[in-house]
Amino acid sequence: MWEDRFNRPDYLFGTEPARALRDHVAWLVPGQRALAVADGEGRNSVFMAEQGLHVTAADNAPSALAKARALADARGVAVDFMQTDLLADWPAEWLGAYDLVVGIFIQFTGPTERAAMFARMAKCLRPGGVLLLHGYRPEQLAYGTGGPRAVEKLYTEAMLRAAFAGWQVAECRAYDRDIQEGTGHAGMSALIDFIARKPG
Ligand SMILES: C[S@@+](CC[C@H](N)C(=O)[O-])C[C@H]1O[C@@H](n2cnc3c(N)ncnc32)[C@H](O)[C@@H]1O
Repeated sequence: MWEDRFNRPDYLFGTEPARALRDHVAWLVPGQRALAVADGEGRNSVFMAEQGLHVTAADNAPSALAKARALADARGVAVDFMQTDLLADWPAEWLGAYDLVVGIFIQFTGPTERAAMFARMAKCLRPGGVLLLHGYRPEQLAYGTGGPRAVEKLYTEAMLRAAFAGWQVAECRAYDRDIQEGTGHAGMSALIDFIARKPG
């Protein structure tokens, strides 16, 4: 499905980073290693690289990765793009390797696969590393301005806090905002930001 959606000349979610990532630019520390999970067409990984981070970006849609590489080239930054099925293949070299793991609109799973994916994201962080998630809440179904039309794929504050129990939560904020991110995410949206530090 995603390959079909990305197989078009323009950028479905635009070439600028998610506004939530820009809002949290202070968490992007130059020189740190970051993993961008399900990064799509590269708008977020390229922004992170522009802030001076060493970024690995994974997605399984070839058309998205081709556009991501073109975006990085156009902006003059290097990103290590990898075609990876994140429901199956998490390279062993990622384990404990990252200071920051970012998942922006990665709501393509139901609860069981999400738990497995969150666990793998946690394992990729070094102790004390930071996880940044941004996505839609169930109230988004009424807006219909982007995201999956399946409530079990959406995030609530309680669900995210429970998924990362024991972590130091720096921010868990639900809010509504008009976002304009390509044609894929356009209009008033029910959003949530979650930033937490891995124990250790
Ligand atoms: C809503 S898009 C978000 C893309 C990007 N994070 C952004 O904010 O622009 C969801 C992304 O998940 C990717 N994806 C879906 N299933 C995947 C899987 N099994 N493995 C890797 N990526 C996957 C899609 O290819 C798509 O790029």
